[in-house]
Amino acid sequence: MKIAVLPGDGIGPEIVEQAMQVLLALRTDGVRVEMETAPIGGAAHDATGDPLPASTLALAEAADAVLMGAVGGPKYDTLPRAERPEQGLLRIRKALGLFTNLRPAIVYPELADASSLKPELVAGLDLMILRELTGDIYFGQPRGRRTLDNGEPEGFDTMKYSASEIRRIAHVGFAIARKRSRRLCSVDKANVLDTSILWREVVTEVGAAYPDVELSHMYVDNAAMQLVRAPKQFDVMLTGNMFGDILSDEASMLTGSIGLLPSASLDANNKGLYEPIHGSAPDIAGKGVANPLATILSVAMLLRYSGNDETSADRIERAVRQVLSDGLRTADIARPGESTVGSAQMGAAVVAALARQHR
Ligand code: IPM
Ligand code: MG
Repeated sequence: MKIAVLPGDGIGPEIVEQAMQVLLALRTDGVRVEMETAPIGGAAHDATGDPLPASTLALAEAADAVLMGAVGGPKYDTLPRAERPEQGLLRIRKALGLFTNLRPAIVYPELADASSLKPELVAGLDLMILRELTGDIYFGQPRGRRTLDNGEPEGFDTMKYSASEIRRIAHVGFAIARKRSRRLCSVDKANVLDTSILWREVVTEVGAAYPDVELSHMYVDNAAMQLVRAPKQFDVMLTGNMFGDILSDEASMLTGSIGLLPSASLDANNKGLYEPIHGSAPDIAGKGVANPLATILSVAMLLRYSGNDETSADRIERAVRQVLSDGLRTADIARPGESTVGSAQMGAAVVAALARQHR
């Protein structure tokens, strides 16, 4: 497998370094991976003036999978939109056709009390947010700024989904629900938005082909409330690009740490880009304290979905659970007063746990 590695900005390079150590350890065990690194986001803007240089996109296109760190930082906040680090990420998602975004939110038993909710509300939570990633108001045209007749500036964006865009992500949703507890909740705003009315119609229509999956619909405002009221009612949540962006950040907090959650963005052939769901955390960048586990767990998803290597994916996930139950904690998941380890120590502990699996 050829893996394009895009560390990005902030803590990106530090956490990706640990994920690469895990891949190297697997390579020693016979997993065939090659890695090549390229810049994206602010780092790419610094080097070339473009947050997604043509050479980076070419490397990603030629690879079997992409492993990314994170993009963005305060230094780039005043750049025009087209030059911002986030555009590098949005453009690579679009260019690679990565319309399926899987964002699992799993509560590890060791960390149930790190959640901002009461442990009994989240213990055992295993939720999959499925977010459409290449449509919606993120990409809809027209968009921009114009001047009104009275001279005042106005900003505008367009929310839209075609039936075929909804249909293909809905099929993915039902297929995933089939492999889990056969419950799919589609989230929209069909009481207000035409886009959502069509969304609901098409999802319902696709659902007819999956009579074994129980389909429900929920308005996004209610879904946001239900996620903090009784999150375990959900199994798979299917939603559009913007609602999914918001709900997946909310869901991450249920698990106690955004530093633990991986994500996969897939095209129609399971080629994918894998990244932690957290951002570049400029406040702790360069300090060696960031939690590398979300990125390491992204490697597990990479091997599972793009590499078809369930064995290695399982091994990584078991190794991560092992280090957590051994008591290793980076600062983001430590209780007050608990001793903490840095990124490199956490990465090394996962590599050591992988090695111990042989005995
Ligand atoms: C995410 C991020 C991105 C998004 C940003 C960085 C463009 O928030 O992956 O959730 O909005 O999709
Ligand atoms: Mg987001």
